[in-house]
Amino acid sequence: MQEKINQLVDEAVNEIESIENLNDLMLLKSKYLGKKSEFNQFMRELKNLSNEEKPKVGQMINLAKNKINNHIQEKKEAIEKAKINEQLAQETVDISLPGKKISLGKKHILTQTIEEIEDIFIGLGYQIKEGPEQEEDKYNFEMLNLPKNHPARDMQDSLYISEDTLLRTHTSPVQVRTLLENEKKEPVKIIAPGTVYRKDDDDQTHSHQFKQVEVLVVDKETSLADLKGTLLIAAKKLFGEEREIRLRPSYFPFTEPSVEVDVSCYQCHGKGCSMCKNTGWIEVLGAGMVNNNVLEACGYDPHEFQGFAIGFGVERIAMLKHGIDDIRQLYTNDLRFNSQF
Ligand code: DAH
Repeated sequence: MQEKINQLVDEAVNEIESIENLNDLMLLKSKYLGKKSEFNQFMRELKNLSNEEKPKVGQMINLAKNKINNHIQEKKEAIEKAKINEQLAQETVDISLPGKKISLGKKHILTQTIEEIEDIFIGLGYQIKEGPEQEEDKYNFEMLNLPKNHPARDMQDSLYISEDTLLRTHTSPVQVRTLLENEKKEPVKIIAPGTVYRKDDDDQTHSHQFKQVEVLVVDKETSLADLKGTLLIAAKKLFGEEREIRLRPSYFPFTEPSVEVDVSCYQCHGKGCSMCKNTGWIEVLGAGMVNNNVLEACGYDPHEFQGFAIGFGVERIAMLKHGIDDIRQLYTNDLRFNSQF
């Protein structure tokens, strides 16, 4: 029997050596060490041996089984290791290949334009203020010198929520809020960017919702010359150093005098072209000296304080600067359009 056992061990070891995958190895394990294996058969035959031989042969069988088992274990580890190495070799990354480009989003042109205007005024020492889009009639109109039934209310078609509240038609109510909030009635110097709403039909140049930036300075010696100087700085920064400005008399209830501000045409440099409708000038915004009625309504003594105010239409500035001919392009979020700026 001893010889048979040794022979079986040699046979098993040889077979194990030639195996290449785990599946075959498991089959082989069951062949040599399983229930139906020859070793199990030997174990069953032990009972036929003499009491002297039984333990000796039993021990031999166990040693043989252990030996085979150890070989199988070693082989298993070798196969697994080879598999991992093969996988690693396959997954090797070529670090010299160029990386994939990830396209980053960027700020919308309207946001860029607002930030550009903000930067100009922050540079001049202004603070940024915000006001609510749902506004009270008294701030949007009444305290801006536009009492109920005033005909100038028709200049801005309004979207009312209730009798006393509406979606603000302009950022000018932030002027009132800022002046009222200032309990000590000190000088103020703010800009207020934000969204405004009008009951307008959308077309190439109109939108029911758009953006404005309000500018307000109230101080003891603020003059029209300060307004003009400020406008000139803003026009040059926004449209180029060579720009000139022109003030034309206009009317807004909350400013007196009121002006419409034109910038010299940056396309034809004043000669006349389609951009400036052959006038050499492009109308860009409204402004004026704060009306005494507004100062008084907000608790500022007009004998002591004067101020100026400016209202930018952000879409208009962006369209002029970048040659955009349809305001609706600013809202449709077509990436082919947006990514140009
Ligand atoms: N609030 C005006 C509008 O929406 C624009 C405006 C004009 C604002 C003159 C001002 C200003 O501050 O002084 O039509």
